[in-house]
Amino acid sequence: MQPTPFKLERYFAQHEFTARHLLCSSDPESMSVGELLEFEPDALDGLRDTWLGYTEYPGAPALRRELASLYDSVSADQIIVHTGAQEAIYSFMRSMLAPGDHVIVQMPGYQSHYSVAEASGVRVSAWMARETHGWALDIDALETLVTPATRALVICAPHNPTGYLPSREAFEQIVDFARRHQLWLFSDEVYRGLEHDPADRLPAACDVYERAVSLGALSKTHGLAGLRLGWVATHSAEVLERMSTFKDYLTISNSAPSEYLATLAVRHSGALLARNLEIVRANLRLLDDFFLRHAQRVEWQRPRAGTIGFVRLKQGAATRFCSELLERTGVLLLPSTLIDHGDAHVRLGFGRRNLPEALAILDAYLDATVTSTAS
Ligand SMILES: Cc1ncc(COP(=O)(O)O)c(C=O)c1O
Repeated sequence: MQPTPFKLERYFAQHEFTARHLLCSSDPESMSVGELLEFEPDALDGLRDTWLGYTEYPGAPALRRELASLYDSVSADQIIVHTGAQEAIYSFMRSMLAPGDHVIVQMPGYQSHYSVAEASGVRVSAWMARETHGWALDIDALETLVTPATRALVICAPHNPTGYLPSREAFEQIVDFARRHQLWLFSDEVYRGLEHDPADRLPAACDVYERAVSLGALSKTHGLAGLRLGWVATHSAEVLERMSTFKDYLTISNSAPSEYLATLAVRHSGALLARNLEIVRANLRLLDDFFLRHAQRVEWQRPRAGTIGFVRLKQGAATRFCSELLERTGVLLLPSTLIDHGDAHVRLGFGRRNLPEALAILDAYLDATVTSTAS
């Protein structure tokens, strides 16, 4: 069965390239190929020499070696490169789960974490984040959700859309739970590395649990979504075997120029992350002030990581708010209906350089609509 339409992606398909001011993107500021090539003096020659035949199925060895350096215990042959994190999510859900299985998924969440499984006849239970606790997860609730058919636990940290990052203790408890029940732990870590205080960085799940699959991508932390490059890292030979076999029916191998540029990017992860974090931190300072000023109308829990946060509107429906805002100002926010989480929240992105401009427009819009309501 075909998965239900990916609501958030359909919304972006409609508005991403026409809205004047994007204020809900999850990928941080990107760069041109030229800017990336400037990281190394002979990088352009290397790109010119890149051979345009098929690349190795699990990903170019040089790229996998660089990716392995992002982990403590995973080697290059325990990584499979995919076309974006999205392909890897699809492949995991289709190759590791079967009809009748059950999975537990952190919610609200990223739709492919549950819709792909549901479409395959897998039963999904929502592990609901608690907004009143800063979007923290209730670890005890996991024991009430697990059944004999449960095969996997799906988490996302740092989290889309709330920006929540578990404490190390909570993360260890999640891993313990997965181990106790021998579950696959599918850990979406595409925002890992963008902790606002680097001391908060959690271990990669694949480094601490043998049945964990860590999902990475260059789209978020590195800001290079156009490379369409993601990967999984795991110690499980079973996952590597099944996902490799499944990938033969998807993209077979990856794009050679992308792999070349990705290798370069990962070699310069430190510089790319520092650049993106600088943008995020400057934007957060503006947001602190903004949310203070508008505390009567909106509320947010300041994220500790990533590029997005989930804002609650204290009155009115988010869908209507977003459509009127877009129509009147050209600013794009994302209503929570598209994340299957009621109609009272909007997703806000703060990884882009345009934030000061877009926020100023939103600021003025909120002031103007207060005045017009009062008058
Ligand atoms: C949590 C999460 N996982 C996966 C993806 C997909 O990433 P990619 O663009 O690398 O396919 C996204 C994109 O928004 C995401 O937010």
